[in-house]
Amino acid sequence: MSFTIAIDGPAAAGKGTLSRLIAGHYGFHHLDTGLTYRATAKALLDAGMPLDDEAVAAAQAERVELSGLDRSVLAAHGIGEAASKIAVMPRVRAALVEAQRRFAAREPGTVLDGRDIGTVVCPDAPVKLYVTASPEVRARRRYEEIVASGEPANFDRIFAEVRIRDERDMNRAESPLRPAEDAHLLDTSEMSIEAAFLAARSLIDAALKTK
Ligand code: DC
Repeated sequence: MSFTIAIDGPAAAGKGTLSRLIAGHYGFHHLDTGLTYRATAKALLDAGMPLDDEAVAAAQAERVELSGLDRSVLAAHGIGEAASKIAVMPRVRAALVEAQRRFAAREPGTVLDGRDIGTVVCPDAPVKLYVTASPEVRARRRYEEIVASGEPANFDRIFAEVRIRDERDMNRAESPLRPAEDAHLLDTSEMSIEAAFLAARSLIDAALKTK
């Protein structure tokens, strides 16, 4: 049976980097589930279709190909915002969760990261991590990423955007962002990514031994 590692947390907490390190180390397949919401949103935006029509958005979600997802073309802030809006729709979530569950069953193992992996998509995952950091630290990381890419950035605006995104992701009725009861909390506010990776490995190694 496939071994799934579920990683959840708010935007810019470090879960993407951590997920890639873990998947590489164990030779597992990795799915960044945020990209499935982003790809659906981008397809709607590109086609000039509305973001508030659930039937239209769900039909688009059913057509998302997991093999063609590329963060570099889906990274724009506007796409993230649009993704967060369509992510409140139950029918959009149902279509994407079904595809995510099929991915999770791949052998020999998988790492899925997102907002609802440990609570909804893979509630039986043998390892669940909830990766978080303070809003200030997450906004600072976003800001530094943008500056490093040579784009202009405004810290106060990024901080406000992080708060708005958290608010929407944590307070929606459908699959809100929250730690699963059996998730291990990793607060990366004052922890390096290497330290977080080491902590995650010891949890995963222990779970693999009892598999
Ligand atoms: O992690 P991200 O910024 O790429 O995610 C974009 C949006 O997609 C996020 O604001 C909420 C939504 N999302 C979700 O609802 N459930 C997931 N498992 C992953 C992302």
